[in-house]
Amino acid sequence: MIVVMGATGATGNALLTRLLDLGVPCRALSRTPDRLRAMEYPPEAEIRYADATNLAALRSAFHGATQLFLAMTNSPAQVELETRTIETAAACGIEHIVKLSAPAVASNSPVTVARWHYAIEEVLRATDLTHTILRPYAFMQKLLLLGPQVATQGTIFGTMCESPCNYIDCRDIADVAAAALTRAEIAGGTYLLTGAHTYSYPQLAARLSSMLNTAIHYTDLSSTDFHQHLTEQSGLPTWLANHIIEIQQLAIAQPEHPTDTVAHILGKPPRTLESFLTENLDTFRHLPVSDCASRTPRGR
Ligand SMILES: NC(=O)c1ccc[n+]([C@@H]2O[C@H](COP(=O)([O-])OP(=O)(O)OC[C@H]3O[C@@H](n4cnc5c(N)ncnc54)[C@H](OP(=O)(O)O)[C@@H]3O)[C@@H](O)[C@H]2O)c1
Repeated sequence: MIVVMGATGATGNALLTRLLDLGVPCRALSRTPDRLRAMEYPPEAEIRYADATNLAALRSAFHGATQLFLAMTNSPAQVELETRTIETAAACGIEHIVKLSAPAVASNSPVTVARWHYAIEEVLRATDLTHTILRPYAFMQKLLLLGPQVATQGTIFGTMCESPCNYIDCRDIADVAAAALTRAEIAGGTYLLTGAHTYSYPQLAARLSSMLNTAIHYTDLSSTDFHQHLTEQSGLPTWLANHIIEIQQLAIAQPEHPTDTVAHILGKPPRTLESFLTENLDTFRHLPVSDCASRTPRGR
């Protein structure tokens, strides 16, 4: 039995779909299991309540399982929540954890969230468990958050000039996670995951301009102005605005390059940003107000 924690999240949700397609017994966890039930998975999917703040619920969710996929929303409580989850999983007989981590992980990383992931990885390394660590770059699915701003203002804001960035489709991360959970030769590795090509924000804006047949611009702001934009216009908490600025500044300091890890593990090239944008183009399209209700979110 494989437990999928973070099953309502972008990667966990894609993993659940993949494991069900493969016919592998799996148990999906959420603090609000009704959200998973509403996704109408086949009856083989076991859906359970679990909250990493609730030890009894975690123990019950891990009972009888041997493998865990662990994805957790970024938050200042992330290290505490994932540490508790790993320790409880080990005590409950889980033998293998696939952890969703991040790039630039190091004890002295300039990215705070990467230092959190380093601390969690250290907890995992200190256990006797087999552990697979996935370190993907930016999720293509998170580009959808730019949709309303692109649609209404025709602009992408940022603070990373023309730096090349790696993007990866969460479905490829999920496919790699599924490989680690079902193929012994993949389990136990640490994998830096990217798509096949890098894109800068100006290139992304140019691509969207051509696909939408309307001018989309990239506006480069100072980090102070971008922070203000993120907190005041987009309403993000300070720690998250700091995180976005830290990863964009790292992209300038250390220009990103693709790896061939996804193709190597899956035996096929990663999904492209081009096809992801094509699939989701309506999210970026300016629609008359009367048509906005038809902007349907992706997912199952
Ligand atoms: N965004 C990126 O570009 C990017 C790039 C590299 C790495 N990452 C890493 O990816 C991870 C996030 O992955 P994601 O975007 O696929 O997931 P996500 O959409 O952020 O959702 C993660 C899951 O965390 C679960 N969760 C939150 N608090 C919980 C708690 N107290 N107990 C149990 N579950 C809890 C949520 O489940 P419920 O709400 O259903 O309970 C949700 O399904 C982060 O650690 C991030 O650092 C992200």
